[in-house]
Amino acid sequence: MKNIVILNFKCYKEATGQSALDLARLAAEVAMEWDVRLIVAPRMVDLPLFKAEFANLEYFAQHCDPQDDGPYTGRITLSDLQRTGARGVLVNHSEYPQTPAEITTILKNAHSYGLETCLCVPDERALETLEWRAAEMVAVEPPELIGGNNSVSKTKPDLLMRAYSKINQINPKCQKLCGAGIRTSEDVMAARQLGADGVLISSGFVFAKDHRAVLRGLFARL
Ligand code: G3P
Repeated sequence: MKNIVILNFKCYKEATGQSALDLARLAAEVAMEWDVRLIVAPRMVDLPLFKAEFANLEYFAQHCDPQDDGPYTGRITLSDLQRTGARGVLVNHSEYPQTPAEITTILKNAHSYGLETCLCVPDERALETLEWRAAEMVAVEPPELIGGNNSVSKTKPDLLMRAYSKINQINPKCQKLCGAGIRTSEDVMAARQLGADGVLISSGFVFAKDHRAVLRGLFARL
């Protein structure tokens, strides 16, 4: 399995609409130079733009709800995501936390829609209480470090080691990611040394002065 970079565009206006397409195109170009799996997570309403624009780029939704199609208002269902061409979905991002029951339902049903899941958790304790075995990826993201300049991999190595050891014990096939404050190749190198198979990055990419240089730095260390 290839190592992974997920670029989460969140709801940043700098990564919305045409800007999202431009950033994703640039990222896809850079990714071709490396043997790494690139996944872009644009905001929900941009997913159809991605479907129209990209044949080969993999993109995930940032969220979905557990409901099936039916009498629900304003929900985003797994079948909605399937129609947008999304390859998968982030689940339980700390900026959109979900209940254990919602998480269980989404992880259980995603495969029947051809969708992969990346479950986000703040720490290893969440892995003791949630039913997460169906997730292809687990991303460990301590909320307090998100959007800052201190990376999880350099600031909280013990936390990552504890979480990864739990994942390895229970589902060694699950890919182990981390995110929060990842900006540099040193941050990725530290994550790799702790056993990470990939990283999630948002502000360090979206607000970079030189997007290509940032990505090359990340890919080079994976
Ligand atoms: O989903 C990725 C994320 O929460 C990390 O954000 O801005 O710290 O890279 P950031």
